[in-house]
Amino acid sequence: TKGRHRDHMGNEIDEQPLVAQRVVDALAPAITDGLLWRGLGLPPLDEIDRVAIIGCGTSLHAGRAIAGVFSRVGGLPTRALVASEAAHEVWEPRTLVIAISQSGETADVLRALQGLPAEHGTVLALTNNPSSSLARRADAVIDCLAGPEIGVAATKTFVAQVLTGVCVALSGLTVSHRADATLLDADVRALTATPEALSTARDTWRGPAATLAAEFARASGFLFLGRGAGLVYAAEGALKLKELSYRWAEHQPAGELKHGPLALVDAGTPVFIVDDGDPRLEVDIAEVTARGGRVIRLGERILRVGGLPLHLPRTGPSWGPLETVVPLQMFARELALRLHRDVDKPRNLAKSVTVS
Ligand code: BG6
Repeated sequence: TKGRHRDHMGNEIDEQPLVAQRVVDALAPAITDGLLWRGLGLPPLDEIDRVAIIGCGTSLHAGRAIAGVFSRVGGLPTRALVASEAAHEVWEPRTLVIAISQSGETADVLRALQGLPAEHGTVLALTNNPSSSLARRADAVIDCLAGPEIGVAATKTFVAQVLTGVCVALSGLTVSHRADATLLDADVRALTATPEALSTARDTWRGPAATLAAEFARASGFLFLGRGAGLVYAAEGALKLKELSYRWAEHQPAGELKHGPLALVDAGTPVFIVDDGDPRLEVDIAEVTARGGRVIRLGERILRVGGLPLHLPRTGPSWGPLETVVPLQMFARELALRLHRDVDKPRNLAKSVTVS
């Protein structure tokens, strides 16, 4: 049923804090002592040399966010791979493969798994459909508990996949000798605060997302920049905007700005910055504003001292500022509605692509 909004996507965006709470309630208690990890039958992380995460589109972005937990907290070499390109990979033994797909039927993901040599290691499927082809193919399966998602452009399955993968990774790392205990503790605390952070983002951005959509209704192109753990949300913001509004959107690591994309910035060019607390972003922002670009900054912590904004350093979780995806989804939807697009069924796209 369609709730508050006329479209499914609006409701699915709104549902994200609830979905996050469901995942955290179900999985967070099993992080400690590696219960979740061992319950899935996964090998101890000390027997794994590397993690390879595969997926397409938004599921690939969820994989990139999850990769940050294995590499930043566990020091484990971790790559997130585009499933359709995985055929060119050299697979090494003692690799944990995590295949992410909300439908579990994406042909590119299933084909990538066919190319795995038998001795490569274990495959964990992270899916919203535990009876899918992907789930049947994998050695272990975890359901991301998002509930049915009707909108073709993924929203709540993204949040559910990120948090499910984060719980699994943190659980594996609690019993690993390589994990940084301080970072691990901070991540577990940040996890329980996530549903609230998502609902604050949703409630704060309802009006501003529509206002920004009105301001940028005629913009022909958009830039999304981030650094470190913020980059993946910039990528997801650009993807949502393309899918829904049919406008050009590009994401880049902010450090690459001066190596090319800055040439795109002109008076009024919309530039979304996902702030993960890296102080170098101040310079990137100055470069954009000096050319007249219009910066929309997300994720920062600001204190007002005597009326002046004071940007605080932010030490966020290893999967980055997940809550920034909410305003990015809301903005993409608002712009698409203004442009009379069908936000639930963008042209040329399908919810599940079963051919490769
Ligand atoms: C695309 C969908 O076709 O497939 C995207 O439009 C999705 O929303 C991508 O992210 C991957 O799908 P899945 O089911 O493998 O997560």
